[in-house]
Amino acid sequence: MTDPGRGVAPASIYERLGGAPFFDALVARFYAGVAGDPVLRPLYPEDMTDAEANLRDFLMQYWGGPDDYSRRRGHPMLRARHLPFSIGPRERDAWMRHMGAAVRASGAPADLAAELLGYFDRAATHLVNTEPPRPGHLPIVPTPSPAGGNR
Ligand code: HEM
Repeated sequence: MTDPGRGVAPASIYERLGGAPFFDALVARFYAGVAGDPVLRPLYPEDMTDAEANLRDFLMQYWGGPDDYSRRRGHPMLRARHLPFSIGPRERDAWMRHMGAAVRASGAPADLAAELLGYFDRAATHLVNTEPPRPGHLPIVPTPSPAGGNR
């Protein structure tokens, strides 16, 4: 009965992916990969529970879900928060390998999976801090437009 063209906000990518359960599973798979990775594991604390919750909440917020991340952690400042860790191409590629595997295993529809992977690739490149940022790299903003990427 509702007119889809009037007064209805477009579903966020968060909603289109199925909400919190999707992000819980994505991040759990990603950290299972990190746990066995000789390049990445030493960067993380022994107990990765908080790291997992932080990444999950950040991603849910980024894609249009609840704003728990900002309420708990304030502004993401992701590049600054990653400066204590030496992140070069090796770390970036390892991070992307695990996140790529997690996205592919997530069952996300192809168009949304491509959107996630494109974002992760840009964000991970932006966080490399052993060399100057590449010209033209995109800053990581806390929240995109609800429909995603229509700047
Ligand atoms: C490029 C490779 C990356 C490496 C090696 C890396 C590594 C790390 C490490 C070691 C932490 C700290 C964990 C802790 O002590 O609790 C962290 C935190 C975090 N990372 Fe990454 N990361 C990478 C890329 C990314 C990307 C691409 C994103 C987002 C799309 C991201 C989002 C976050 C978030 C949200 C936190 C928690 C920040 C906070 O609130 O303290 N990271 N990362």
